[in-house]
Amino acid sequence: MKKIIKRLPKATTAIAVLFLLVQTFSDLYLPTLTAQLINQGVVPNDQTIIWQKGFLMLGFAIISFGGALINIYFAAKVSYGLGGELREALFKKVTSFSQKEMDRFGSSSLITRNTNDVTQVQNLVEMGLKFLILAPLYLVGGIYFAYRLSPSLTMAFVSVTPIILIVCWLIFRYTNPLFDKMQRKIDQLNLIFKEGLTGIKVIHAFNKEQEEYQRYQKENESYTKLAIRSNTAFSFLMPFITLMMSLATIAITWLGAGLIDTGQMEIGTMMGVVSYAAQILMGVAILTMVLSSIPRGQISAKRINNVLETENVIQDGSSDFAEHESKTNSLILDQVSFSYDGAEEDALERISLSVRSGETLAIIGSTGSGKTTLVNLLDRLYDPRKGSIRFNEQEISQISQSNWHEQVSLVPQVNQLFFGTIRENLLVGNQRATDDELWDALALAQAVDFVQAQGGLDGAVEKNGGNFSGGQKQRLCLARAFVKNAAIYLFDDSFSALDFKTDAMIQKKMKVHLNQAIKIIVAQRITTVKNAAKILVLNEGQMVGWGIHEELAETNAVYQEIILSQEDKEAA
Ligand SMILES: Nc1ncnc2c1ncn2[C@@H]1O[C@H](COP(=O)(O)OP(=O)(O)OP(=O)(O)O)[C@@H](O)[C@H]1O
Ligand SMILES: [Mg+2]
Repeated sequence: MKKIIKRLPKATTAIAVLFLLVQTFSDLYLPTLTAQLINQGVVPNDQTIIWQKGFLMLGFAIISFGGALINIYFAAKVSYGLGGELREALFKKVTSFSQKEMDRFGSSSLITRNTNDVTQVQNLVEMGLKFLILAPLYLVGGIYFAYRLSPSLTMAFVSVTPIILIVCWLIFRYTNPLFDKMQRKIDQLNLIFKEGLTGIKVIHAFNKEQEEYQRYQKENESYTKLAIRSNTAFSFLMPFITLMMSLATIAITWLGAGLIDTGQMEIGTMMGVVSYAAQILMGVAILTMVLSSIPRGQISAKRINNVLETENVIQDGSSDFAEHESKTNSLILDQVSFSYDGAEEDALERISLSVRSGETLAIIGSTGSGKTTLVNLLDRLYDPRKGSIRFNEQEISQISQSNWHEQVSLVPQVNQLFFGTIRENLLVGNQRATDDELWDALALAQAVDFVQAQGGLDGAVEKNGGNFSGGQKQRLCLARAFVKNAAIYLFDDSFSALDFKTDAMIQKKMKVHLNQAIKIIVAQRITTVKNAAKILVLNEGQMVGWGIHEELAETNAVYQEIILSQEDKEAA
């Protein structure tokens, strides 16, 4: 929490605190004025005093009201400002994460941290700025002023405040763990709900509606039970405090009446003490409430700091990428090995290869053989464990990431489109592209027909491209990659959802239009990789074949197996 508090803007926070003090002191002085008004004005019927004290009271009431308003405004400004700042910082941090950090936190947890946890911290800061100072002052100030009015009465009811403190403390000790549990249940509920939404097709297809519903119902019921328990305990607090206030008033009045009878006290004094008693009890209640919510806020603050302080394992390189004079680029992998965190075996083992401008490198291999992993290394989502990847003889880890990403255009295995228009989605590839260039890219991706049918570049794209078929989505993602003018194009299984004819057509056109670039194509079909200048055959992370189609078809057992399996399918 300390680190978060450091983020608060000093001046605004100081203003909020200052006006809180103004409000509190005015509030605290009012009962004393009431006592004076009654004792010196009402009882002896002195009109001047009544008017004088009356105006003074009005003045303090207005000051208190104004102070409260200004405090509320600045407290909100500080806390919501902090919330906004935290969300922004989290978002910025998360977008800078490499795949490794994403794997570590998981997307659901990052979302909860960015919403729920930020709100917790924000509420705690707001509450702190409003009440944390107010409550102790009410308590201490109230006792002080009441004592000045009547030491004996004050002593009588202050002696019962420990009871209230203990009861409040017991209630919060009971409810706090419940709140903690509830928080975790909410995470769980969100997860099931999210799965229900995103996996709706699978759930329908496997007739799992009833199971999903029961799973949700079970969590929901236990959440509801927790909520009822904690809220019942919590709602006991207010009536309890009211009861204590009434008891205090009765006690003070009873004791006070005796003192007034014997002429030891004036009636106004007693009324003043009654008001202070109410303020003191309020102070106690607020104080316990704020103090009890600190641990919850602290847990959230910790979860937020965890993300903000995570060091990105991918260190940004400092140098710019050196453009080759001859304009021919080369990409070399030298004994590259990589393993995922926690995995026992390498996902890639000693891969060495080279590819130059104009060439197409195809990567083929069974599922799980490490194709996507290799693409991720080239896009620098991960760094190799061993070995080096060099572009024009420069280590890619030395090149600044933004510079490197300018050189690389990627079509990831899982198609990702954003909510918006087709134009907006394509411009992600290159902000400065003209409409003509966008249409060229669409033509290259064989996407012109259906884009025109969807209303052209202004056609709508729903979340995740929901209004397009699998093959259409794939072609839009291809077009987006083509819009970027890159030195290296990475296609991770980007042709699998296309029919053979479209696939062949795109391959042919790519040869012409991207003739200067390095093209790296991950594919399942022999027909897609057949014409590549170089083919890498992967099996369980190992490089088991390297060459051109004809050679591999002659000599490579794994490659032959792939050919055979596909001939069978075509024959079938
Ligand atoms: N984020 C990850 N964390 C841990 N292991 C992973 C991760 N991603 C992939 N792996 C493992 O690494 C190996 C290679 O996976 P990879 O995704 O590179 O395969 P692939 O060749 O692209 O397969 P496919 O053809 O199915 O896309 C697999 O054994 C997989 O289980
Ligand atoms: Mg893959």
